[in-house]
This record gives sequence, structure tokens and C-alpha cells, in this order.
Amino acid sequence: MQGEVVLITGGSSGIGLAAARRFVSLGARVRLTARNGEKLARAAAELGGGTDWFSADVSDPASVAALMEWIAERDGRLDVLLNSAGQLDLASSGESAPELAERLMRVNYFGLTRTITAALPLLRMSSRKSIVNLSSFAGKLVPPYFSAYSASKFAVQGYTHALRQEMAGEGFHVGLVLPGPVASPMTDGLLNSPMYPVPVGVPVLSPDQVAAAIVKCVRRRRSEVVVPGYFAPLLRLGAAFPRLVDLIYLPYRKR
Ligand SMILES: NC(=O)c1ccc[n+]([C@@H]2O[C@H](COP(=O)([O-])OP(=O)(O)OC[C@H]3O[C@@H](n4cnc5c(N)ncnc54)[C@H](OP(=O)(O)O)[C@@H]3O)[C@@H](O)[C@H]2O)c1
Repeated sequence: MQGEVVLITGGSSGIGLAAARRFVSLGARVRLTARNGEKLARAAAELGGGTDWFSADVSDPASVAALMEWIAERDGRLDVLLNSAGQLDLASSGESAPELAERLMRVNYFGLTRTITAALPLLRMSSRKSIVNLSSFAGKLVPPYFSAYSASKFAVQGYTHALRQEMAGEGFHVGLVLPGPVASPMTDGLLNSPMYPVPVGVPVLSPDQVAAAIVKCVRRRRSEVVVPGYFAPLLRLGAAFPRLVDLIYLPYRKR
């Protein structure tokens, strides 16, 4: 991937940052984006290899347009777009404020689709034309309290499958990565809390394990990658029989 231009949303933290590390080690020119400029500057300095950054909020159309103008001026094209920017919030589904669900949809779903739409002209200038979107186990199976987050990740999944088919004729690769729970700033203080029990047998991943799967997804042009891979049959089963998920979470149900 020597010299290829890779734009990573949510590149200042967690999975996005770990993926950036791997792309830099493969010789790619990595461009990071997120809202907090200080975190981005620190990440870019740590990564080296000509990594650069631009502060942008994916939920703000003007911000995303400015990001793409910056890439156009700086690099003239985009080889890989990794959409890792995201937020997680848990709440009782019947009582959760609509504002919470709206915010998660605005960032996790509309932010992702807006970024892709704005990036398409730059991706068309490259030969790789690769787009990778982050979903989650929670984009296939829905644990209690995950309704807003899961809805946003189901939406990402639906969008990604449609986009893949529509763009195939132009030589695009569109991939979906579905990780289980990851120890990252997103889940800090949440994992194994009453609203987010991690069922026995479900491993907590490192951001780098997901980063390795992302790189594999890009290089092998895979359409769907579950991390860890041996959970793929369980996700299919749970999607076909949603009450299986009830059974998995039954021991953790609050009285
Ligand atoms: N952690 C998990 O257990 C897990 C499991 C499955 C899937 N995922 C998915 O993987 C992706 C990355 O998660 P992570 O664990 O790496 O989370 P993280 O460490 O919290 O990183 C999230 C990144 O997104 C950025 N971000 C948040 N809101 C944004 C916005 N409105 N505009 C632009 N950037 C924004 C954050 O930076 P700023 O705050 O500075 O903007 C940060 O760089 C997410 O899509 C998440 O849903 C995570």
C-alpha cells in the first residue's frame, strides 16, 4: 500500500488509531479526522510516516465538505476511506430520550453516509476505490439497552450492502467490519457494567485485533468481516432467531 492515501474518520482513538498504525506500517499516507484537534495532532505525531490530520465533525455537512476540499488540495485522490467515527450510549429503550437516538443516528449513520457521498469523487480518482464501514456484533444481535446504538449499526449495515452492489460496476470495494466488544475509550467504564454485561465466552478484543481485520478487509476486498471470525455462525443464527439473544442475556437480566 506504499504511497496510497487512506482517510480514517475517528482516527484519533481506539480502532481508528490502531488501523492508522497498521496502514502507516504498510507505507500508506494516512489522513486522520475527528473533532478534537489536540488528540489528532498527538496521534499524527506518534504515527509519523507523513501522517496528517484535519479536524471535522461528521455530523456537520460544512465540516465534511471542508475535509474533502483539504484532501483534494493535499493529495488529489483517496485510495481507502475507513469510517470508524462513532459514539455509543446505552439507555432503557422505553425511557430513553429521543435526543440520544437522534444523536447516535446523526453521527454513526448519517455522518457515515455523508462522508462517503462527499468522498466519492476523490475515491473515483484512485484504482483501489475501497470503503470500509464499522458496524458491530450489535448491528446483527441486539442486547438489552442497545436499541439506539444497534439501530444506528443496523442502518450502517443496510446502507453498506446496498452501496456495495451499486458501486461494484465502477470497481469499488465496499466492506463491512463487525467487531465484538473492544477495550477502547468508547467502552471505558461500560464493559461489564449492569447495562453492558459481556456474556461468558465472548472475548474483549484489543483495537489492534480489529485493525488487523480492517487491513485484511481492504487488501482481500472482503465484503463482510466478523471479528473474531469464529463468531460469524453465531451472528447468523442470532439474526435468524432473535430470541436466542434473550437466552444469552437472561442470566444478566436486572431483577
Ligand atoms: N469499542 C467497541 O466495543 C466497538 C465494538 C464494535 C464496533 N465499534 C465501532 O468501531 C468504531 C470505533 O470505535 P472505538 O472503540 O475506536 O471508539 P473511540 O475510541 O471512542 O473512538 C471514536 C472516534 O470517533 C471520533 N468521533 C466521535 N464523534 C465524532 C463526530 N461527530 N465526528 C467525527 N469524529 C467523531 C472520536 O474523536 P472525537 O471525539 O475527537 O471526535 C474518536 O476518534 C465506532 O464506529 C464503533 O461504533 C466499537
